[in-house]
Parts: sequence; structure tokens; C-alpha cells
Amino acid sequence: MNSTLVKDLYRKTGDYINNNVQVAGWVRTVRSSKSFGFIELNDGSFFKNLQIVFDEKLDNFEELTKLTISSSIIVQGLFVKTEGAKQPFELHATKVEVFNLADTSYPIQKKNTSFEFLRTQAHLRPRTNTFSAVFRIRSVAAFAIHEYFQNNGYVYVNTPIITCADCEGSAEMFKLTTLDLTKPLPLKDGQTDFTQDIFGKQAFITGSGQLHGETFAQAFGKIYTFGPTLRSENSNTKTHTNEFWMIEPEISFCDLDELMDIEEDFLKYVVKAVLERCPEEIAFCDKFISNGLTEKLNKLLNSTFVRLDHKDAIDLLKKADRKWEFEPEYGGDLAKEHEKYITEYFNGPVFVKNWPKDIKSYYMKLNSDGKTVAAVDLEVPGAGEIMGGSQREENYDKLVSRMKEMNIATDPLYWYLDLRKYGSDIHSGFGLGFERLLMYITGMENIRDVIPYPRTPKNCDF
Ligand code: 4AD
Ligand code: MG
Repeated sequence: MNSTLVKDLYRKTGDYINNNVQVAGWVRTVRSSKSFGFIELNDGSFFKNLQIVFDEKLDNFEELTKLTISSSIIVQGLFVKTEGAKQPFELHATKVEVFNLADTSYPIQKKNTSFEFLRTQAHLRPRTNTFSAVFRIRSVAAFAIHEYFQNNGYVYVNTPIITCADCEGSAEMFKLTTLDLTKPLPLKDGQTDFTQDIFGKQAFITGSGQLHGETFAQAFGKIYTFGPTLRSENSNTKTHTNEFWMIEPEISFCDLDELMDIEEDFLKYVVKAVLERCPEEIAFCDKFISNGLTEKLNKLLNSTFVRLDHKDAIDLLKKADRKWEFEPEYGGDLAKEHEKYITEYFNGPVFVKNWPKDIKSYYMKLNSDGKTVAAVDLEVPGAGEIMGGSQREENYDKLVSRMKEMNIATDPLYWYLDLRKYGSDIHSGFGLGFERLLMYITGMENIRDVIPYPRTPKNCDF
């Protein structure tokens, strides 16, 4: 007999009531008395468990009373309604095959389930309720992201992981080499001679697909990327990892205001999709991870995001009646405490736009004031900056002069500059940190708990 998915038992209950079904999965809990017992089985297809009732009529009744957490079993039985009980239905077992009795050393037991501990059990934590919810939401959100762009005429581009292009600063990129690091490196004029390396020049692992994305935007009009992104920054915070996933749309004939419209529409689409498709998971996160989550997400769907100039954000911070660890500066970045204050002040997502040019990237459009660039960050409560984007400098001469000012080598990026010679257009794009989005949607407070195997400074376990 083929196994039925527990998800179908929940979603299409009527099709199965009073039928014999087989399910296969893992034991979450077992309780038993002298003559009967209950197993909570999870088969991975659904957030909720299926209750299985077994009794002494089964020849392996004794064996079943000794089942351990995470044992794998295959069960056949009669699927019946349970009027007035906590669960709407249960399976009355006629046969239970214990495929693997999990060792009693199984480390995840009720008494030790802190997120810190579970990070040390990253290979087993997807079996817990929290991580089952988080990682199913991750999957559903990823699909909704593709869906949004595909439905809106964007072309999906796979930008390279290995690159020599400097987008967000080469200092933050991981270096890639096949030179033998156990031996002295080949030198030329006192510098490492990368002509002897595999690509004949120094190569990196990408910290952004944007520059390549822009080349495709000038061919397809609207494109997006969705892929792994690596940064070597030594940041030990709850919102940084060295490996994360980024979504980078790039849109031709689109200015900063239109970009914000797209960001807002896109974020609402993804949040709505998750609310609709993961009701059990969101309800769990609301109850056990972040109280008021559902209300927060619903509010987002019905709100208009605030749009604030960086200068006005600093004014607001300076006026606040409180002491800062980092004094807000007109020429400076926003610290975590500032982001928190601003999003709490407006009680929702806030676009901060028109940033001082000196703290932003070379490719951003210089505003007519000569001091700010047409950049925009979307700040949300909890996760902080989830999207960073800008209108791009479309003028060849201005771009070259910004690159020179900021010490960005122009020669290797001749192809990026070519875009300003052959059909330049006003265009914009943004990057969404997928894990930051997931923190926002699930209410999880640490980025390490929304990515399957987090890579952070001093941690590359598993
Ligand atoms: O602001 P960032 O550095 O912007 C870019 O990379 C642009 N090239 C994007 C573009 O315009 N196409 O990064 C974009 C987003 C941030 O807003 C944040 O959500 C996420 O990527 N991010 C990180 N997430 C986790 N860990 C890190 N170390 C991150 N650094 C950035
Ligand atoms: Mg940024």
C-alpha cells in the first residue's frame, strides 16, 4: 500500500474518513498504558502531527510501548473522526512496523530546546516544531518570490558565484585561489602573482550579483537574481552571516520612487502568500516565537510604507528624548539602535532614502545637491535593513568620476561602463536579504535560526 501524506489527511479529510490508510514517518511522542497507547507521528508533509492509537491486540504492542522519539515507523490503520476530542481525527492502527528504533541518546529532548543548543544540533533541529515552521516558511517564501517576479514579467538570471567584479567592496569578498597556500606564494614586483592562479587573475566569491544583473536588465528590461551571496565581514551580530541568500531585481526605465513602489508591492505579495499558505506555521510562530506576529504581518499588508529622507531620519533621531550609544550624524550610517527607534516610531516598515554619498556605493546616482545619492534602504522592526537599493548612475562621465573618487579600478569594469555607452537608461534595483526577510516573517530573533546551516565568524560546523 502506498503511504498517504498527513497533509492530505488534514486538507482533504473527507476523502479518507473510515478508510484504511498507511502513513510513514517519525515518532514525536509516545504515551502508553497497560492496554493501549498514543503515538504522535509527523511525516514531514505537514506542520501538525497525526495521532495514532494502538492497543494490545497488536502482536508487537510491547515493542510499541517502548518506542523512542524520532523512531521511524510505518503504520496501517483505520482513519476515523474523533468527535469532541482535541484532534479532529486519529488513526486506529492495525499494523505498526518499527523500521528504526531511535537510540535513546537522541539529543533533542523536552528539557533542552534553547535555540543556542539547537544550533549545535543543526542536523536534527529541522525535526522540531520551531524549525519545521521556519524552514517550511522559507521554502514557501522562496517560491512566492519567484512567482512574484515571473508573474510580473521579470527574467530570472543566474549571475556568477565566481567573479572579479567589485560591487560592494572587494575587502568584503572571499578570495578564491588554487595557489598552494602551504608554500610561499609566487611573487611579481613584490605582490602575489595571480597570473599563475587558476583564472590568471585574482578572483573572488561574489558579494552581489548586481553588476551582472544590470547587464541583463539592459537586454530584458526587468530581471531578478536569487542566489547565495558571500561576505567575509567579521560581524558577530544577530543579523549578519558570511553566507546568505539575496534576491536582486534590476529594472530598466525605473527611478527611485518607482523602485520603492515595487519593493513595497513585492514585500506585501510575499508576506500575503506566506500568511495564506502557511497558516499553521504562522500561528505557531505567533504563539511561541513572537506574540502579535499575525497582526503585525496583516498590518503590513494594509499599510503604506513611510518614505523618509536620510536627513529627516537624523532630525528625528536628534529630537528623540534619549541617549544614544552612537550619536546620529547627518553624514553617517544608521546604527541598529537608530533603525529600531525609527521603525518603532512609525510602527512599521520605513524607507530611508537619499543617503550621504560618502557612505554609499560608487554606482548610485548622484543627486543634484552633489552630496546625496538616490539610495534607499527599507527598515523593518526586528530585522533592521532588509532591502538596500538605489537608482544607478546612468551617466558615463559621472560614473567614472565617482569610481575614481572612491578608488574603484575602472579597467576591470569596462563592461559595466559599456552599459552607459550602449543604450543607457534610468534604471534602479535593490537587494533583499532573504534571511532578514525570514526573520521578519517568522519573528525569529537570530539570523542563525532561519538558515539551515549558518556560516558566521568562527563557525562552519556541519
Ligand atoms: O545593502 P547591500 O550590501 O546591497 C547590495 O548588495 C546591493 N548590490 C543590492 C542591489 O542594489 N542590488 O545588501 C542587500 C541586502 C541588505 O539589505 C541585507 O538585507 C542583506 O542584503 N545583507 C545581509 N544579510 C545577511 N548577512 C549579511 N552579512 C548581509 N549583508 C547584507
Ligand atoms: Mg545596505
